Amino acid sequence: MRVEPAAQLQGHVAVPGDKSISHRAVLLGAIGEGETRVTGFGRSADTEATVAAMRTLGVEIVDESVDELVVAGAGLRGLSAGSVDCANAGTLMRLLAGIAAGQEGTTELTGDESLSQRPMERIAEPLRRLGAGVETTDGHAPLTVTGTPHLKGTTYELPVASAQVKSAVLLGGLYAAGQTTVVEPTPTRDHTELMLESAGIAVRRGPTSITVQQAAALRLGEVAVPGDFSSAAPLLVAAALVPGSDLTVHDVGLNPRRTGLLDVLERMGAHIAIFNRRRSGREQVGDVQVQYSELAAVEVLPREVPSLVDELPLVALLASHARGKSVVRGAEELRVKESNRIEAVTDGLRAFGAHVRSREDGWAITGVPARLKGGRIEARGDHRIAMLGAVAGLASREGVEIQGADHVAVSFPGFFELLDSVVRR
Ligand code: S3P
Repeated sequence: MRVEPAAQLQGHVAVPGDKSISHRAVLLGAIGEGETRVTGFGRSADTEATVAAMRTLGVEIVDESVDELVVAGAGLRGLSAGSVDCANAGTLMRLLAGIAAGQEGTTELTGDESLSQRPMERIAEPLRRLGAGVETTDGHAPLTVTGTPHLKGTTYELPVASAQVKSAVLLGGLYAAGQTTVVEPTPTRDHTELMLESAGIAVRRGPTSITVQQAAALRLGEVAVPGDFSSAAPLLVAAALVPGSDLTVHDVGLNPRRTGLLDVLERMGAHIAIFNRRRSGREQVGDVQVQYSELAAVEVLPREVPSLVDELPLVALLASHARGKSVVRGAEELRVKESNRIEAVTDGLRAFGAHVRSREDGWAITGVPARLKGGRIEARGDHRIAMLGAVAGLASREGVEIQGADHVAVSFPGFFELLDSVVRR
């Protein structure tokens, strides 16, 4: 796929439903009571893997349309044993492991090549502490989780800031006698906590901790999924980079633990406005407008990283176009995402003509407020790297060729079409 330079981005768009929330709606609906209707479902390869996983474990799910489905809850302990293919979806594998800890029998979790290289001991360890039997393959998938009705609550301090690990432990905690507390080094996305509360679970939240009690039942009813901020991000960043652009993304999730990119853009001098701030259930939603303006270098601090973890490749691209020296620190987790994103971004941006040096925990980037030449980027099986290539192409002088562009379907199947609809050439 080749992405040619854009003269401008103009217009109003909406993006598909949030991936993190869509996974959680299906998973919690599956172990809930009665029917859960999910509207604004973000259908993608990742979330389809979650729907398929629940069907494999005996849950009935009816597709009402592309973005609406109804999950027939099987109850907290109602999943059958079986083998589940999690494909590329880390969220599915890690959250389902927590749920499997409370089921009878053994659940086997497998993934594609990329997922099978990602660390799984980080969930195995706390789930064993709750009392589940968890076996990994040298710390990776395939893994098996053998549940028991005799889990016991614990307090677990997360060694890494990870919403997936936090969620796995909290979900296991629903099945554990007494209470389960997770302590976070840095706040991460709290979609699981918010959705559990919507489902009638008492979630106690301290400044750095979250506590759940053993649950009797949960009931979601309806989940209206807001647009995915991480899918809006490439569009917003493209508008911030291409002179003369003015773009608004409507109905996008603005959970404050997801929107670190907006803070960074503002610090860089981008023109951002938020309209129609409102709530959808317990989640914040609004419309985000970005207008082009010249950008200045920025420093991204370790404590900000979880709030923009999936947007950091885009931050590196912004920094390449921003006058001065930018630094991103505390982002070593990027090395264990769908690809090693620190190296994928460094190699990609350098090939386009940017001055980027990788650090163990991020990048040092010297930016110039001008278009990069462009060139070729290899997506490395990673949807976020493919989207980075597309945005870089729009902002370039000569365009970008993306090898493996179809990986965008992991989170955002209609990405290129939507991008095209706002690009003026
Ligand atoms: C996610 C959490 C983050 C994020 C991923 C989705 C989630 O991963 O990168 O895309 O839905 O909880 P970590 O928890 O590994 O940081």
